[in-house]
Amino acid sequence: MIIDIVSIFPEYLEPLSLSLVGKAQETGKLTVRVHDLRDWSAAPHHRVDDTPYGGGPGMVMDAPTWGRALDEIAQSCDSKPLLVIPTPSGKVFDQPTARSWVGNQSIVIACARYEGIDSRVSQHYQTRSDWAGVQEVSIGNYVLAGGEAAALVMVETVARLIPGVLGNPESAPDDTFSRADGLLEGSVYTKPPTWRDLEVPPVLLSGNHQAIDQWRAASAEEKTRNLRPDLLP
Ligand code: ADE
Repeated sequence: MIIDIVSIFPEYLEPLSLSLVGKAQETGKLTVRVHDLRDWSAAPHHRVDDTPYGGGPGMVMDAPTWGRALDEIAQSCDSKPLLVIPTPSGKVFDQPTARSWVGNQSIVIACARYEGIDSRVSQHYQTRSDWAGVQEVSIGNYVLAGGEAAALVMVETVARLIPGVLGNPESAPDDTFSRADGLLEGSVYTKPPTWRDLEVPPVLLSGNHQAIDQWRAASAEEKTRNLRPDLLP
């Protein structure tokens, strides 16, 4: 899979060379290419924004700059790219969204700043038969200063779903939001068995796998009831 990310702060995406996403890149399972939007600006001082039609505060990123960037990047893609636009006014990004993206060989993430990108960019790429569609997505009900932090979240979520990226492939299906029962993952423990007077639940040390499975199911349900009752069936 190749993910192209376009931003006016390309350095913001440097953490993608670390940890799991970095390893996925080293092993060739994923390629992340980061581009500076200003390279496609035709304006003095590499400007990429202008005042909003209709008035109001802030600036809007202009369509011609984005159009040149996205067209050139698409030409370097082997398959039709999916255009992802992180925005607080998008559909909420979740685990099923990430799973649905893993089938795409090419994803282009367009990171906005200011008041966002001229809406005709999303409109235009939805109609392009050489693109796999456009998805405007939010990582939650709060407002960031730009799409870069959201892009980091989305790339890491997608990367760990690429076959062969996770060290232990059995750990992904047990994750919260990947569980068949839709519950949060329950409490987990490791050595030592006692820490600051707190004991590991004895059943986990019993070696009785049936009892351990039952305890884990109860722990998942209790945690979900306390923290996310909306997820209970
Ligand atoms: N840009 C600003 N806020 C955002 C959010 N919550 N999700 C995605 N992109 C954003």
